[in-house]
Amino acid sequence: MDRNEGVRVKVPASTANLGPGFDTLGMALSLYSWVEMKKSEQTQFHLYGDQMKGIPKDKTNLLYRVAQLVFVEAGVSVPEVEISMYSEIPLTRGLGSSASAIIGGMTAANALIGSPLSNDKIFDMATSLEGHPDNVGASLFGGIITAIWDGTHADYIGIEPHEDLEVLVVIPEFQLSTSEARKVLPDHISRKDAVYNISRSSLLVAALSSGRFDLIGKAMSDRLHQPYRASLVPGMTSILEEAPNRGALGVALSGAGPTLLALVDRRDLRKRELESYLLDTMRSHGIQASARWLGPSREGAVICETVNSNSFMNMIKGEVEV
Ligand code: HSE
Repeated sequence: MDRNEGVRVKVPASTANLGPGFDTLGMALSLYSWVEMKKSEQTQFHLYGDQMKGIPKDKTNLLYRVAQLVFVEAGVSVPEVEISMYSEIPLTRGLGSSASAIIGGMTAANALIGSPLSNDKIFDMATSLEGHPDNVGASLFGGIITAIWDGTHADYIGIEPHEDLEVLVVIPEFQLSTSEARKVLPDHISRKDAVYNISRSSLLVAALSSGRFDLIGKAMSDRLHQPYRASLVPGMTSILEEAPNRGALGVALSGAGPTLLALVDRRDLRKRELESYLLDTMRSHGIQASARWLGPSREGAVICETVNSNSFMNMIKGEVEV
């Protein structure tokens, strides 16, 4: 590809924690953002779609800022860029929209200058910005990841999602920022609760790796963050208790919320019943929400190879209903 024509990157959304794996487990989801980046005489932005409303079109823009971090790290100067973005990922709902923007911006910027930085380096830089590796790791590498962060460096192992694993997300209309949802968490937890979470998170990784769908429900239980966040998401406590009896393999708050996420066996016959149950329960707590059936995204950030032949929005129209 002629990098002078610019680069395009497709990045998946993500869900973090999967219940007990607070700040450590993540899964890429089949909901995407696309970023195009070109060298330019003057910095300019073309932001498309409902999800981009209110996003700044100046050098405070997150994509611009993370691109500059990449250029500085690589030791090159690219002060002016033309950036286009289209996103299907709802903002501040717990589906990793900011992580996908960070990964999209960093991957595009790196590709624009001939990819001097490794994905591992981008993972470290992105995790440093987010403060935890779960969303950025899933968006960068795809699939399911289990990751650690020592404050400087992130390590991960990827888990191939089972082919029958499907994901139902119920996305409330209200927004909840990660910082608000972290403020309600206690600074200290008991040893009993720590053991509760370590054991379930470990079992969940093993169950997802080995296709033990029968253990996913028990393993997705959590005492580290969900009980404290329940007051921020009306209906959540009932749903966590009841959804496994309505066809969910397991259910969790997606990241910091407010989206709720159910893992489902694709072959289960109660999928419509589960969807209605989740939406009705939220509605009975005064929350309007929309449901989306997704899958795990096996691919993480991907550099598209067709920049010349098609305009940015024509390419998007070829992929989604815009
Ligand atoms: N692990 C993070 C949290 C994800 O639960 O706060 C938020 O993006």
